[in-house]
This record gives sequence, structure tokens and C-alpha cells, in this order.
Amino acid sequence: MKDVSGWCAQTSFGEVLLVMTRNIIFFGLLTSPNSAFALTCRQVEDIKADIRALIPNADGPYLEYGQEITPAQRARGDFIGGVVRLGWHDGSTYSQEDSNGGMDGCLNFDDPANKGLRGIWQELRPVYRNYEDVCSRADFTSLATITVIKAAGGPDIEIPYGRVDADECDEDWGRFPSLKKSRDHVRKVFRRMGFTMQEAVALMGAHTVGRCELKNFGLEGPWAENEHVFDNAYYHKMLDLVWERKVEVTEEFGSQPHWDHAKMLLMLNTDISLAWNIDGDNDDPNHGDPHKCGGDMQCDTQNSYRHVARYAQSQEEWFEDFSSAWIKLLSLGQDGDLQKCESEEDSDSYDDRSWFSSW
Ligand code: HEM
Repeated sequence: MKDVSGWCAQTSFGEVLLVMTRNIIFFGLLTSPNSAFALTCRQVEDIKADIRALIPNADGPYLEYGQEITPAQRARGDFIGGVVRLGWHDGSTYSQEDSNGGMDGCLNFDDPANKGLRGIWQELRPVYRNYEDVCSRADFTSLATITVIKAAGGPDIEIPYGRVDADECDEDWGRFPSLKKSRDHVRKVFRRMGFTMQEAVALMGAHTVGRCELKNFGLEGPWAENEHVFDNAYYHKMLDLVWERKVEVTEEFGSQPHWDHAKMLLMLNTDISLAWNIDGDNDDPNHGDPHKCGGDMQCDTQNSYRHVARYAQSQEEWFEDFSSAWIKLLSLGQDGDLQKCESEEDSDSYDDRSWFSSW
């Protein structure tokens, strides 16, 4: 039996049983592979095809500015955003200094910071079931992220394989970033994982897909209209639109500060502070007059602003930097050597299969 003491300490025996059952169901604890698998390239392509088939309305059209998103586009954005966030949350528990956490196929879905992610894993899990004997959860989750990013029009990212899953998924790392804070906090969070500010800015652009959901964090809305498309809209929206400071108050979440554009789009403090000086790292949302950095305006967001401006101008540069940072994130905490998938002798004939060419 695996060590479950982390969450046993605060729960009754009945609760323990309930949580254990749930953990086993959702995280597959008892079947958790804890040695590296060598995936073949054929297996990788099969897994990608099966994950892609899960994306609702994978070929939905692009939206014009101000157009309402259709339920089909929304469903696509929800799934794509959810899978990318699942990968981010798995990898981002890493601490370079403590040498723990990271991309280990484990998330504590009972941690409020992970709200909404249990449902995403439930959608992926039937596919994972078919591969759990050959693929770790961490490799599968990594593969899911690069599949949805590509399907949403993003870069075609090649990753290595052989991630080993952690034995337990119950750790409350307390390391997830706070949406109320700003740039100094972003810097600290990413530095803890070993990322530079440039890499942090590149990764934050993933908010271009998906949205905030009222039921998860008390906020509702996407960062960009085309929440189902992986493009550099996050950066130019941040620079070009007028953003108004707002606070959403709900009984469950209390006051949630954020930045609103025309009651359609939102940015969190942690987003907007990459290009706007919002007066420091303060939990009180009602402080300071925001002003945009750049040009003659020197302010303490200057370093991050430079990269926001660069990515707003060149999607190509963003795709390149995002891809490198994403590969790094998906490798955090994996001590062993990660390897490219193993090609097979018959890989040529495999490539010729007609369904394969639609990738
Ligand atoms: C300071 C850092 C960050 C904070 C405070 C933050 C916070 C949040 C919050 C509050 C949500 C809304 C979740 C919901 O309501 O369901 C969200 C969504 C999301 N986050 Fe972040 N995030 C951060 C960084 C990142 C990074 C670096 C990535 C990826 C590289 C990322 C990917 C996503 C995605 C794709 C969604 C949309 C999820 C969906 O549509 O279900 N986030 N984030």
C-alpha cells in the first residue's frame, strides 16, 4: 500500500476510505508506473490520434472581434484550455532548491488551486486506460498538452519521453501562484522552478486559450475572444486594449481582483503586471494608477514588458520561445534521461497511412 499519510492526518476513517477510493479512481494510484517506459514513435502517434479525437469540434472557425463565441467553439476552448492547464499544474509544483515536485503525473485534485482539473483528467482517462501499460501518466499528460496545442493552431512541439510517475498524488505543495498578486510574485514563482523572466512571459501566453470559470475561482471570462485558438492574442490584447480594474465579489471566493475589457475579456493581476505598472505586489486591488511601460516610460515592469511587446509583434518568436519553455516545464523533476521516441523498422509504411497525414 502506498503512503497516504499526507491527507490521512486531517480526516476520519470514513473520509479516508472515500478519499482513497477517489484517489485510486482518478489518479490510478495502485497502477502507478514508477519506472520509465520507452515509448515507440508508433505508440506516440496512436496516443496523439486518440487524444485529438477527444477534442470537441476540433475544426471550428475563427471569431471576428466582438462576435459571440458559439457553444461548439466554447466546448473546444474549454477542453484545450483545461488540458494545457493540467500540464502546467503538474509541472509547476517543481522546486529547484528542494528538488521535489514537477512533472510526475500527479496532482492533488482536492487542492482548491486545482479546481476544474479533475473533470479534465476524467475526460482523458478513458484514453489513458488503453495505454497505461506502456505509458506513464506524466508522459501521457505531456503528450495530451502538445496534441491540443497543435490542434488549436499552436506550434508542433516535439518532446522526449520516459517520465516516471510519483508514487503519491496527495501532496499539497502550496506552490501555485496567487492570481491577486503581480509581477514580483510571478518572478518568484517561476524562479523557484528555474525559469527566467523571459521564459515566464513566454509561458504566460498560454492564457490565450481557455477561460476563467465562475464556479472555480469566482471569475468568468476568457483572455482572448478566440479562446479555442492558440495564437499570440494574449500579448497584443494586453498592450492594445483599455483595461479597467474590477473586483468580483462572491460568497465562496470573497473579493477577486481582475482587469476587464468591455465586459468581454479579462486579465489577472499576474497577467497585466507583465506590461503595466500596477504599483507593486499588493493584494489590495484598489491601489495605484496603472500605466503602460515601454517607450519613454521606464518602470519596474520594463524587463517583462520587452518580451510582451516582442511576442505581440511576432507570433513566430513566441511559438519558438514557448516551445522551448514548454519542453523544459514538461521535464521538471525528472532526474533520469528523457529520450526521443524509438522509431521502428516499419515506420515508413506507418507514415504512409492516410489518416496519419491529416496531422
Ligand atoms: C502567475 C501565474 C498564473 C496564475 C495566477 C494563473 C491563474 C489561472 C486562473 C485563476 C485560471 C482560471 C481557472 C478556472 O477558472 O478554471 C487559469 C486558467 C488557465 N491557466 Fe493559468 N495561471 C498562471 C499561469 C499559467 C501558465 C504559465 C499557464 C501555461 C503555461 C497557464 C495555463 C492556463 C490555461 C490554459 C487556463 C485556462 C483553463 C481552462 O480554460 O479551463 N496558466 N489560470
